[in-house]
Amino acid sequence: METQRSCGLSAILAAVSMLLAACSGGGGGGGSSTPPPGTPPPQLPDASTAPALKTVFAPYFRIGAAVMIEEIDPATHPDDVALLKKHFSSITVANALKADTVGVAEGQYNFEPAEQIIAFAHDNGIEVRAHTLVWHFTSPDWFFAGDRSDPAAYRELVRQRLKTYITDVVTHFKGQVYAWDVVNEVAGAAQGETYRTDSPWYEAYSVGGGNGADYIEDAFRAARAADPDVKLFINDFLTENPVKRANLLAIVQDLLDKGVPIDGVGHQVHSNIAVSADSVDAALTAVEQLSPSLINHVTELDLSVYAGPGAPANYGTGGLPSAVAGQQARTYRALFEVFRKHDASLDSVTAWGISDAETWLSHLGAVQRTDYPLLFDAQRQPKWAFWAIVDPAVQLPQ
Ligand code: XIL
Repeated sequence: METQRSCGLSAILAAVSMLLAACSGGGGGGGSSTPPPGTPPPQLPDASTAPALKTVFAPYFRIGAAVMIEEIDPATHPDDVALLKKHFSSITVANALKADTVGVAEGQYNFEPAEQIIAFAHDNGIEVRAHTLVWHFTSPDWFFAGDRSDPAAYRELVRQRLKTYITDVVTHFKGQVYAWDVVNEVAGAAQGETYRTDSPWYEAYSVGGGNGADYIEDAFRAARAADPDVKLFINDFLTENPVKRANLLAIVQDLLDKGVPIDGVGHQVHSNIAVSADSVDAALTAVEQLSPSLINHVTELDLSVYAGPGAPANYGTGGLPSAVAGQQARTYRALFEVFRKHDASLDSVTAWGISDAETWLSHLGAVQRTDYPLLFDAQRQPKWAFWAIVDPAVQLPQ
């Protein structure tokens, strides 16, 4: 292992350090002072001494993981089950509540996989975050079928389908989940492009001159009517980017102005090990400043080790070089310092997955590479990133 690591590693490390040096504000904070020469590298603490994340963070916020149906099966995934039971106070249903799973056909629902995950969570005293009612990526075609020659009638047909779907799904899980991502990724990316327009919802609502964005309001109103108590969220990625954030917050402001029931903003924080903690700080602060009524959730946290141009194409399955693991840990530490600072508005922080064994980032169609974005490694052992966030005194590798 060590031989394999040292072989050819210097080129990789040089590339990574160049990249990190080039990233303004990368990582930031978290005890990155250089130890005196001759200091032995820190050793990863013994896994058996790992505290439960949910105990460490109980004073601040729920700590969660997104979970896929197969990961709660003790026969095939005993280590994932053990991690969920020990560490997490929240589970997000990763895929089983998306409309391409639940909405089999108009009026026909497949609730079972989500029900199984929710039952597992509740049997183990874990709360559930529900994700997501409306996402352009997972909305089946039946929502949008119909004759568009009478635009007003077509728009009304789609609108009623949306309202019926949300009413039925939210009613079904009423009292079982503490939050719903009502709409997911609806903000535009470019400056001044408030709404995502490449969405079948936006397109359908726009037919014949309709207001494409109205589906968002309809979705929140239907969700609130079905469950007066569940917290309703708008969820999006890159809230740490000021341009994207301005679009998202313009939507939230508009909803608030219209009296639409919205409780909070979900920050996905799908990012990488060079993300600036200050940019995430700014995102959480911006929501707080918009309205004291709004809650923040960090909903899909993961930090890819492939930090952009100049990063190696693939570390492979041989393991993460310790310097990179150390950098990742410093960034996680800096982020959790920010999260704790915002605990008055932030009541849930969720990782997008349990361990590096199953991360969506290793399965992204265009990029086939092994990623290492989470707190537990592929063997389900705590990584440097884990130790960095549970104990500020733990020295991290350089
Ligand atoms: C991803 C899941 O992790 C994958 O398993 C699935 O194939 C596609 O969706 N933003 C989101 C999540 O809001 O729902 C996505 O989850 C990741 C990006």
